[in-house]
Amino acid sequence: MILVTGGCGFIGSNFILDWLDQSDEAVVNVDALTYAAHPDNLDLLADDPRYTFVRADICDAEAMTRLFSTHQPRAVIHFAAESHVDRSIHGPLEFVRTNVLGTATLLETARRYWQALPEAQASRFRFLHVSTDEVFGSLGPDDARFHEGSQYQPNSPYSASKAGSDHLARAYFHTYGLPVMTTNCSNNYGPRQFPEKLIPLMIVNALAGRTLPVYGDGRQIRDWLYVGDHCAALRRVLEAGRPGELYLIGGDAEKTNLEVVHAICDLLGRLRPGPDYRSLIRHVSDRPGHDRRYAIDASKLKRALGWMPTESFASGMERTLRWYLDHAEWVASVQSGDYQRWLATQYGERTVERA
Ligand code: NAD
Ligand code: DAU
Repeated sequence: MILVTGGCGFIGSNFILDWLDQSDEAVVNVDALTYAAHPDNLDLLADDPRYTFVRADICDAEAMTRLFSTHQPRAVIHFAAESHVDRSIHGPLEFVRTNVLGTATLLETARRYWQALPEAQASRFRFLHVSTDEVFGSLGPDDARFHEGSQYQPNSPYSASKAGSDHLARAYFHTYGLPVMTTNCSNNYGPRQFPEKLIPLMIVNALAGRTLPVYGDGRQIRDWLYVGDHCAALRRVLEAGRPGELYLIGGDAEKTNLEVVHAICDLLGRLRPGPDYRSLIRHVSDRPGHDRRYAIDASKLKRALGWMPTESFASGMERTLRWYLDHAEWVASVQSGDYQRWLATQYGERTVERA
């Protein structure tokens, strides 16, 4: 079986659903169920004998040791993290705890487990560390895209804590030979993303007739990838990637934030005709330390492992929007009291600079 951490979050839940759609190999999902987790993301698997859920914190060394010895995984796919940049600005220490200490605890547990495995199993064991392009910092408009040799220059507490986890993953390969592979992916979007991130926030706000808060001038650039394509890349790296290597994953879809928000408004106008969604856009005060541009050169992954994204930005956005329109109950259920408190903290005191 494979052990997935953070499988009740956005990418982890998509990964597990896709995995069990394509394989009969069992999955154990360990998740602490933080605010970002939605166990009902995996409701479909409630009666599936191939799926086991364990509630535990990756910082809990005893629980991690029990998990490995009970389930004897042949691989770990490590998603669990605090993942939202704005929250890392409000509360950086939780990011250091989960992303750095949690990853260290998991690597150390995996090392002890792996070192005790018989040779044949040890040589097949893999630890796939799922990371982000944000560890490489911010690009200028004409800079070459990030690649596997790019320098680490994280700028937010989130990206710094993910960089710390990447360094630990690298060190466990170099020092102990633990077969670790790291992936650094660009911005994901798709079904089941919690509406604190740009795309789902804009969708749920527009549907509710609330304003669409664009930070600063809205000309920051991200390189968007449909979550199903990220999951396919991870499966491919797990299957054929080389231990000790880094693989960058991206969608060749650089867009300014304003282009993304306009695309959502226009698509919604077609799928759910109603108000002029663009009129809801407001430019609000910027994110402190806001990175200007991310862009990924994924040619290593394409060349070495034959992966290609299958969704364009237009087709992926349409699938995503249709999912949110078809899952009104999910959308309502994730906008709890905690979520309302987050909106008040994050947006309540932001200055509206212009429409
Ligand atoms: P998410 O915030 O939606 O989900 C994170 C999950 O981890 C949640 O289910 C949460 O309960 C769990 N978790 C948090 N702390 C934990 C702990 N201490 N112990 C156990 N479980 C814990 O995140 P996501 O967007 O699905 O991202 C998953 C991974 O992919 C993260 O490592 C993130 O850095 C990386 N990543 C995300 C993106 C993106 O665009 N979302 C892009 C590249 C890389
Ligand atoms: O690049 C990969 C990273 O992408 C992942 O590692 C992170 O986990 C993920 O959260 C994401 O980080 P970003 O900060 O790029 O994503 P976010 O959706 O928060 O913001 C995308 C852009 O939109 C960014 O430039 C900030 C802007 N933004 C965001 C929000 C929430 C707004 O203008 N308004 C908003 O309300």
